[in-house]
Amino acid sequence: MGINHSSLSDKRLKIGDVFTPVEWGNFAIMQFDIFTKWMNGASVFDPTMGEGNLLDSLVIHGVERGFSITELPLKNLYGNELNSTYCERAIKKFQKKYGIDMSSNFSNCDILELEHKEYDLIFGNPPWQNFVDLPKNYKQKIKEYFLNYDLVGNSQSLLLGGSRIDIAALVIQIAVKDFLKNNGEAFLFAPLSILLNDGANQHFRTYKVNDTPFSLVKVYDFNDVDVFNGIATRYSLIHLKRDIASTFPIPFERHEKGKWLSLLAKPLFHLTDPLSIYDIDSENILNDIVPIEIDKESVPRQGINTCGANKIFFFESYKEIDDANCLVNESITLPKKFVFPLITSKNFKDDSINPRKWVLLPYHSNGRPLELSVLKSYPNLYQYLFKHQEELRHRKGIMIGSWLKKGYWWALLGMGYYNFMPYKIVWEAYGKKEFCPLIFDGKWQANQSLQAFIPVRTLREADRVLTELSNPVIESYLLSLKMEGTMNWAQPGKIKKLINYKKEHLTLFD
Ligand SMILES: C[S@@+](CC[C@H](N)C(=O)[O-])C[C@H]1O[C@@H](n2cnc3c(N)ncnc32)[C@H](O)[C@@H]1O
Repeated sequence: MGINHSSLSDKRLKIGDVFTPVEWGNFAIMQFDIFTKWMNGASVFDPTMGEGNLLDSLVIHGVERGFSITELPLKNLYGNELNSTYCERAIKKFQKKYGIDMSSNFSNCDILELEHKEYDLIFGNPPWQNFVDLPKNYKQKIKEYFLNYDLVGNSQSLLLGGSRIDIAALVIQIAVKDFLKNNGEAFLFAPLSILLNDGANQHFRTYKVNDTPFSLVKVYDFNDVDVFNGIATRYSLIHLKRDIASTFPIPFERHEKGKWLSLLAKPLFHLTDPLSIYDIDSENILNDIVPIEIDKESVPRQGINTCGANKIFFFESYKEIDDANCLVNESITLPKKFVFPLITSKNFKDDSINPRKWVLLPYHSNGRPLELSVLKSYPNLYQYLFKHQEELRHRKGIMIGSWLKKGYWWALLGMGYYNFMPYKIVWEAYGKKEFCPLIFDGKWQANQSLQAFIPVRTLREADRVLTELSNPVIESYLLSLKMEGTMNWAQPGKIKKLINYKKEHLTLFD
């Protein structure tokens, strides 16, 4: 790829240094018959080998099958590792256990800079870490690799440093492109996010590196198996094949309650969609999904985000004082027109009539924040916000930062004309296993950390959209994405995929 850096990385860096227990290396060897391939002459390379556990598991497997060390083709095992200590330990381990010097097979280099060489098989466990969480210096240096290895698309977020793409995706792209022979195969332990999450990881799901395609052949989802000693990331073992385009569905084995369930996986609508996981009996149901038609202005939205200032904007009690004013939290007088009922999970459990919380929105009904002069024309409102000015100004984040820069320190995120449309179809988007949307009067506001919604203009439209969203096939679709109980259960992005937009509708403040 022609990238030259004198010293990309510090050899003391520790990035994603969780090693694969040998028994799980053996699991991969058994599932994919890696041992036989190796014995038949295939070269095997671990691009980020840590202390060499995966390569060692091939040797252990061979010894357990009754082969002597001299019968095993150790000269065909290759490894590379960024961290010098781990690399030395790998060399020492092979020396001590097998009396073999692997120092000319094992290199100590950043895989991003290692001289390209083609192997028959890759057997690895790349580091798992979100780009945003990488050391700052390193992040800066490796940005261009994401671009050169086809992982950015049109996204600006990587350039801004906020991308949640996993570095595992980059290592996999490099391994497949630069270290595999034509039609070579890769067996990799990898975070499931690259297959199942929306957002930045979708760039991995073009299943190609520039003009080199590869196919996702099979996935093992460890789900409830603790392979990596308490690591919370959801992880998998994936099989890739270079130079063959992906075709779906593919076999997807998922470990549940002590056994492997044989399921299928495919992206439902577009190639880069997160994989939907389903059993063969559900295939027809998923194929039957009919898109929901809505206006562009009704695009699904996240609720309001105070950027850490819930205490300032959210209230526990509300009393009307007169036509114009209300008393919130039993002590603060505010103009009624800027205080709205905030939806809570209780509104989904019993009824949707009684508000339990309220939210202050210093906004015009077109979704623009009040200008300072307007704010000042409501002395109670201004005084209240002014009292919290310091805290509001110190909120962190790129998006809120741009409002702060413009002087709107009372702004929130998730605000637009859609907050003030006459009706909202709202659903709980996080941590749920069921999809139960409800219609709320437009004054009710959704809370970003809990709900998402579709705003509409008429009750008739609300009823229609609700009926279509309540089709059990929608819940089946969400369940197929295997995000039940997580933060990613039913965010707007997932529902957007089920939608066809009726007509262009010009909105000023989208
Ligand atoms: C998840 S561990 C797996 C190690 C080994 N494959 C195993 O399964 O035991 C990932 C390894 O990648 C190494 N690593 C991280 N970034 C790397 C890079 N850019 N180049 C080479 N190795 C890297 C880490 O130091 C760590 O040892």
